[in-house]
Amino acid sequence: MAILVTGGLGYIGSHTVVELLNNNFEVVIVDDLSNSEKFILKNIEEITGKKPAFYPFDLKRKELLTQVFDAYSIEGCINFAAYKAVGESQEKPIDYYENNLFSLINILQEFKTRGLSNFIFSSSCTVYGQADEMPIDENTPLKMPESVYGKTKQMGEEILIDFAKAYNRKVSLLRYFNPIGAHPSSKLGELPIGVPNNLVPYVMQTAAGIREKLSVWGNDYPTVDGTAVRDYIYVVDLAKAHVAALKRLLSNQSEESTIDIYNLGTGTGSSVLEVVKAFETANNVEVPYKICDRREGDITVAYANANKAEKELNWKSETSLEEALRTTWEWQKYLNSRNN
Ligand SMILES: NC(=O)c1ccc[n+]([C@@H]2O[C@H](COP(=O)([O-])OP(=O)(O)OC[C@H]3O[C@@H](n4cnc5c(N)ncnc54)[C@H](O)[C@@H]3O)[C@@H](O)[C@H]2O)c1
Repeated sequence: MAILVTGGLGYIGSHTVVELLNNNFEVVIVDDLSNSEKFILKNIEEITGKKPAFYPFDLKRKELLTQVFDAYSIEGCINFAAYKAVGESQEKPIDYYENNLFSLINILQEFKTRGLSNFIFSSSCTVYGQADEMPIDENTPLKMPESVYGKTKQMGEEILIDFAKAYNRKVSLLRYFNPIGAHPSSKLGELPIGVPNNLVPYVMQTAAGIREKLSVWGNDYPTVDGTAVRDYIYVVDLAKAHVAALKRLLSNQSEESTIDIYNLGTGTGSSVLEVVKAFETANNVEVPYKICDRREGDITVAYANANKAEKELNWKSETSLEEALRTTWEWQKYLNSRNN
């Protein structure tokens, strides 16, 4: 019995593959390398001493996906594969809808016809938009996200809820807050291909001198220091939540449909400037920054109430912001050493 991990060479996917292998799951990765690199597979093998099956193709190619389902006895899927750049999604909406939703539907067609269950979906706190109250729990009303990327996440959730209900299948929707950090081995991390979209990779590259200055978008928000607040969750902790969510689905013997929804965050918000300072302290480096105008579409504050995940998955975030940022810097050093 194998777990299909789509996007398994990507940032969160690769860390989750390591945790799955460490928990003795058989793993089959499909990743078209559109936002990842092949050396990550070798590094997964070095970390775990195990070799997951790997198929480098685009999930939109349904005939190739069918062959993978024919070749393995798949008992579940963790679907990380998606395009994720918010800005780019506004410029290329059709590409984003096509990639993120057609890939999902192709996998669900296989699940439907083969009677398979246990599907875990990478969702995002973006489905809550700017929530009226903090912290955000799973009952916080959803708001249609402004970005096309966010819409693909909300639509993906809807598709999976309909799938579970119509065919009595089990799904888990994991709403990540802001994943950061890298593997303690320094062999896995976020590969910022092009200009990073997220704060921490930008901080990392600024500290490394690859970017001149970090742009801090707005310092007049009603927050502790005027900069926007997010909930930064360490990627290895996040990866472990996937294993816990998978085990819960697998042990659920119900014949009825199951829709598990969890917010995965630390429960604590940190401002942009707090992250910058924590990075500087953790790594003894300087991160030059400049204050810019607010960026359209950015929300002020978002942090999770992750009590449901703690109660039902027996999971909680364990790693401090400083420690996560320390691993980020070690990852940058590893990338530097690869380039030299
Ligand atoms: N990183 C975040 O901040 C964040 C936050 C919330 C949700 N998510 C979601 O989590 C998931 C994983 O994110 P990540 O940060 O690891 O992204 P990532 O880009 O590092 O990983 C995604 C992987 O999927 C692959 N991929 C994309 N489209 C594919 C296709 N059609 N066929 C085969 N492979 C394909 C890419 O090559 C990449 O390796 C995504 O669905 C993302 O939307 C990420």
